Amino acid sequence: MSNRGKFSGRVGFILAATGSAIGLSNIWRFPYLAGQNGGAVFLIIYLACVFLFCFPVMVGEIAIGRAAGTDAYGAYTKLGGKKWGLLGIFGVISGIFILSYYNVVAGWAFGYFVELTFGPLLQESDFGSFFSSFVNDINSNFFYSLGFLFLTALAVVRGIQKGIETANKILMPSLFVILIGLILYSLTLPNAKEGIRFYLVPDFSEIKLQTVFDALRLAFFTLSLGIGGLITYGSYVQKSENIIYSASVVTWADTIVAFLAGLMVFPLVFSAGQSPAEGPALVFMVMPEIFQQMGPTIGKIVGASFFLLLCFAALPSCISLLELPVAYFVDQKKYPRKYVVWILSLVIFLLGLPSLASFGAIPALNKLWFYKQRDFLTLVADITDITLTIGGCLMCIFISYRWKLHNMNAELAIGNESFRGSLMQKYIDFTIRWACPLLLGVLSVLIIIDKFWGFNF
Ligand code: PHE
Repeated sequence: MSNRGKFSGRVGFILAATGSAIGLSNIWRFPYLAGQNGGAVFLIIYLACVFLFCFPVMVGEIAIGRAAGTDAYGAYTKLGGKKWGLLGIFGVISGIFILSYYNVVAGWAFGYFVELTFGPLLQESDFGSFFSSFVNDINSNFFYSLGFLFLTALAVVRGIQKGIETANKILMPSLFVILIGLILYSLTLPNAKEGIRFYLVPDFSEIKLQTVFDALRLAFFTLSLGIGGLITYGSYVQKSENIIYSASVVTWADTIVAFLAGLMVFPLVFSAGQSPAEGPALVFMVMPEIFQQMGPTIGKIVGASFFLLLCFAALPSCISLLELPVAYFVDQKKYPRKYVVWILSLVIFLLGLPSLASFGAIPALNKLWFYKQRDFLTLVADITDITLTIGGCLMCIFISYRWKLHNMNAELAIGNESFRGSLMQKYIDFTIRWACPLLLGVLSVLIIIDKFWGFNF
């Protein structure tokens, strides 16, 4: 147990957990959902979900990890018995499936970066059809996603401090620098003000129940909650650390990056006269068009920085998704990390192939007859979205009724003497016992109804 590794200290853990949190969802999903849901209103609801409901879940998850000092399965088993261990297995399997499709999308970002920087991508005349043929080109994407997973494995195989921590120490500051650079540039563009107004001045007539659920789902996904990823990272946290403090820094950093991504995207979109409500196409179809309008040189620099930013955001998330099952096999089965990382990466890559081929290469996977003619990648993404919220709901039930709140609080008080009896403690107890299980339970059921029966609220 002693040689499983630890983060070197507070900064190491915070950077790794922030890296896991910041990902494609901040730069890609957040701006397009905000664009579709009235901008500022979405932002407000999202912030409420993050701080009111997701923050306590994050604290609980890290506390389980540090108290048990082992992988997700081992942690639930140690603190709650063999049956609860199944919840850990559920998380490990979810992590494997999330990574299988997430890596495909990360591969697209990587491919766009390569083709924009070294190829004629910006000379295209129709980015919609470019995207369709790009995702259809299974040969290139095979290598882009293999390359991305290889980089992920390379970091994970080197262990907690040398690999995961070092990668995050390089990637996270670089990500901030690129993001700030892009924002400064986009604010200088004509019509930037329009974009800012759309993003920051709320129009409450836009609120629908759907907006609230979209925001909660996104908040949960973006903070990497519910599948034991943070139990795993939490198990490498030293006892002297203050979990509440670390979790708040991670939550803030993730939220700030999502907020800044909007601040970068909307001025660009409005100054190019595009619609902010383009949905998932925003990043891969609308943004290249905007870069094209900037002219060949500036367009190339800004465009390449943008897709590099996406890659830098996705890589640490992939790293944490891989570490989750790796820790299980290393801690439970005592297999050497080196073999586990490479074999698991290969398995995950193979599992991702149907997602990779679901945009035309294999027509049956593009329009699934049993899933309302949607594609395979969307199916995996939707199912794993549900496993996240179900996992989070069951985790709260685990803490309240099996492990018990007083044990969680005892763990949280280590490294944070003033926690006992504080308002923060009461708040976390209340949300974990009542608010989160209820809300996440309802949300899981609603997502299932919405996805499989198309109920629109
Ligand atoms: N939080 C990551 C993102 O925002 C995705 C992720 C989910 C990573 C679950 C790890 C675990 O894109």
